Amino acid sequence: MAIESPVQIALELRSLYLVTGSNSGVGLAIVRAFCKHFGENGAVYLTARNEERGMQAVEVLKKEGLNPRFHLLEVDDVSSMEMLRDDIKTEHGGLDILVNNAGIAYKGNPPMSEQAVGSIKTNYHGVRLMTDTFLPIMRDGGRITHVAGLSAPMAYYRLSEELQERFKQVSTVQDVTNLMNGLIEATKIGDHVQKGWPDWAYGPSKLGVVALTKIQGENVSKDSSKKDVLINCCCPGYVATGMTTHHTGENAKHRLTPDQGADTPVYLSLLPAGTTDIQGKFLYKREIKDFFTVDIRPITYM
Ligand SMILES: NC(=O)c1ccc[n+]([C@@H]2O[C@H](COP(=O)([O-])OP(=O)(O)OC[C@H]3O[C@@H](n4cnc5c(N)ncnc54)[C@H](OP(=O)(O)O)[C@@H]3O)[C@@H](O)[C@H]2O)c1
Repeated sequence: MAIESPVQIALELRSLYLVTGSNSGVGLAIVRAFCKHFGENGAVYLTARNEERGMQAVEVLKKEGLNPRFHLLEVDDVSSMEMLRDDIKTEHGGLDILVNNAGIAYKGNPPMSEQAVGSIKTNYHGVRLMTDTFLPIMRDGGRITHVAGLSAPMAYYRLSEELQERFKQVSTVQDVTNLMNGLIEATKIGDHVQKGWPDWAYGPSKLGVVALTKIQGENVSKDSSKKDVLINCCCPGYVATGMTTHHTGENAKHRLTPDQGADTPVYLSLLPAGTTDIQGKFLYKREIKDFFTVDIRPITYM
């Protein structure tokens, strides 16, 4: 499917938007898309863990005639999340759209245990805790979108059958957290490969996000205090950002622009009211990819 510009997405207006890790890359492009098309009908929060980098990004958008707001947000720190939630609650009463975009991928080759602890902290727990912190103030019709990646199914297909089965069978958030903790413990001992994990932490941390999304989607559907709230995740595609600038080779030539990478996250964040069939799902190029039940190999970014 051709990737369309976010401009082409048909949606309805909502008023308060928040994007994590949005001082660069895909996150900045998601803020740009929200500001361009909906900002005058509400407020769009560009957030960053570093004030200087955040304000520089705000300036970039201001030069384009856009007007995002800025707030500090460190997704490794619950008190930072709570501060932002309380400020939003006080000023706006609630939140409509949350995009959990912040993520890290290690460059170079630090020890696997370091990569596992860091990747799982930011990519998995960051998403889990942001959702727990902000769900109470999500208004009816709210949308929470996590930016995972095709590295999730790539990691899944490299697991032992036993671990694949455990990912398929998760029924609580704690089940997913236990799997993430299992990887961390195994990397500390150094027997993660014997235990059925790939020698890779980023992919499994994003697999944790996909499994988490499935449970969060089920839970929010059953929660009678939350009307029409959807929680989904996606891959933005292979995008030219700070995360991939060091990549070389044939595939690197085909990277998307950040604005193209924003397409599916924006699409999911603006699913129309009353949508029921996209809940707890993982999407790529706006299509559901249920790799726990359907074999989607070979996985390709093209
Ligand atoms: N690029 C791709 O091809 C690709 C493919 C699949 C998935 N993704 C996912 O897409 C998302 C965006 O990545 P990107 O490609 O746009 O990379 P990027 O330009 O490096 O952006 C990552 C953003 O996350 C922020 N961040 C990292 N750790 C954080 C923390 N603890 N608290 C708050 N913010 C934090 C970074 O802030 P700093 O500037 O302060 O570091 C940066 O703003 C990530 O979740 C990534 O895993 C990317």
